[in-house]
Amino acid sequence: MATNRTFTMIKPDAVEKNYIGGILKMINDAGFKIVAMKYTKLSKESAGAFYEVHKERPFYGELVEYMSSGPIVAAILEKENAVEEFRKLIGATNPADAAEGTIRKVYAKSIQANAVHGSDSDENAKIEGDFHFKANEIFA
Ligand code: CMP
Repeated sequence: MATNRTFTMIKPDAVEKNYIGGILKMINDAGFKIVAMKYTKLSKESAGAFYEVHKERPFYGELVEYMSSGPIVAAILEKENAVEEFRKLIGATNPADAAEGTIRKVYAKSIQANAVHGSDSDENAKIEGDFHFKANEIFA
């Protein structure tokens, strides 16, 4: 059954380009409520652990380097059917394939530096949210 929470990160390229405000506005305008948020930087170890599921992929090393290259914004978002609705809002992984009006269409520059992360399942939304936030940092 779909839950009402998902997890996102605004990635280093988007933070560096000063896109935090624009991306958060798109998230709010789409009806998501921010229930947890943190401006932080991943170490190589924590980026590697976060993306462990992609360990065997050829881009894993580059992905870990990139995700630990600068600050990120991590957040837990709430909306009915959040995981699916948020994936619609962010658009395809490769911005070249992202639909008009999606966050990646507007702000992403490449398949790796694709501006935002969005959980791909309810199970991963919970795991990823718990990776970044303690219970007392989440405000329902
Ligand atoms: P994300 O949604 O955070 O999940 C995995 C990330 O791996 C993805 O966004 C991209 O940043 C990155 N990624 C996925 N596919 C590729 C690829 N083919 N080449 C480089 N990076 C990729």
